[in-house]
Amino acid sequence: MELTINDAVRVFTDASAYADEPSFYAACALLRRECPVAYVDVKGFEPFWALTRHEDLMAVERAPALWVNAPRPALSRKPQDGAKPADLPVRTLVQMDAPDHTTYRKISVDWFKQTNIARLSARSAELAKRAVDHMAELGGECDFFTEVAVNYPLYIILALLGLPEEDFPRMLKLTQEMFGIEDPDMARETEGDALMANLLEFFEYFKGLIEDRRANPRDDLASVIANAKVDGEPIGVLEAVGYYVIIATAGHDTTSSAISGGFAALLAHPDQLRRLMNDPALVPSAVEEMFRYVSPVKQFMRTATSEQVLGGVTIPEGGAVLLSFPAANRDEAVFARPDEFDVARDPNRHVAFGFGAHYCLGTHLARLETRAFYNELIPRLDHAELAGEPEFMRTLFVGGPKHVPVRYRLH
Ligand code: HEM
Repeated sequence: MELTINDAVRVFTDASAYADEPSFYAACALLRRECPVAYVDVKGFEPFWALTRHEDLMAVERAPALWVNAPRPALSRKPQDGAKPADLPVRTLVQMDAPDHTTYRKISVDWFKQTNIARLSARSAELAKRAVDHMAELGGECDFFTEVAVNYPLYIILALLGLPEEDFPRMLKLTQEMFGIEDPDMARETEGDALMANLLEFFEYFKGLIEDRRANPRDDLASVIANAKVDGEPIGVLEAVGYYVIIATAGHDTTSSAISGGFAALLAHPDQLRRLMNDPALVPSAVEEMFRYVSPVKQFMRTATSEQVLGGVTIPEGGAVLLSFPAANRDEAVFARPDEFDVARDPNRHVAFGFGAHYCLGTHLARLETRAFYNELIPRLDHAELAGEPEFMRTLFVGGPKHVPVRYRLH
């Protein structure tokens, strides 16, 4: 059956659409070609315009005064009739605009700089070795997502924040539930507002951390945040908790999706895997291609502060646009053969980390840990193949494969 624009626009509000990548990307290609600034009015969501071209997404990202994050930083469902909208108890960087955003981002921006993040190189290499050793112990067959890719980035987050390894299971559960909320395999089994329950649990946990780092400051990111000053006053507890929440969640599922989606892509393109195994110096460019090809963050939104024209379409003041990072990352006007996975792609102007004022704070960390993983895996790999079809997560926000069955030989 021929795909219509009317059907195509529905992919952004349908969590299962992201789980069927070929159909999702076919819908985005049609929209880029015929309706790149597409009005979407679907039951259960406030209307918005979906941007699928790299150029339009960048135009919005370059003008943060015209396009703000508050009050609708990302797509979410409308509350049920009669229900109160979920009033999130924490406000994080992604909900803020200048001047608050600038103030709060400054707190950790130096910590996330490449030169500082390089301090985690040795620890990343050690954790990557542990992850690949674990693959070897599993004896040649595993679910690469649940048994390897989920765990490794969370150990890095624990190291970054200065948290003990014993806290691993708790953090794993919380971060997965936060982004897996649309997927029945991952969502928490509670009545009522699952997201709120999740945030409250985070709140209790991080409140203890703030108290500890105020009493005993250390050389970790948790101490930098707990002891930060905002306008000369100590940062508020809610704001500090918001900071920990954004770092723990933004830094986990994104990277595990990139690592497992990247491996699934390599196994689906055996010529590219062979090329990388023959030339491991290609790991950095292969990793960039994984970020582009997987695009773990599916969308953020912006709201127009005054009437704007994008791609010939007038968006009224207060109108919201959805930035589709995966769609922009397959834009044929920017990427040659956009649907091909090419470990040596150059140039690769992907927008998997966004751009501009809200550009991903964790970019250097994500690169460091993903490269560390593949720098360890690729030279030890004698053979690898898919042992079944990868299964993708239902999501409206962050995701990638939730099962990647693989068969391999390592040395
Ligand atoms: C492959 C992994 C990752 C991807 C694809 C990714 C992607 C993104 C994207 C698309 C944004 C929004 C950018 C925009 O609005 O233009 C973002 C923001 C953010 N990311 Fe990442 N991210 C990744 C890893 C990380 C890591 C490891 C951390 C930290 C440990 C992190 C922390 C953040 C934070 C704090 C923000 C909010 C920045 C702001 O609003 O100012 N991310 N990320």
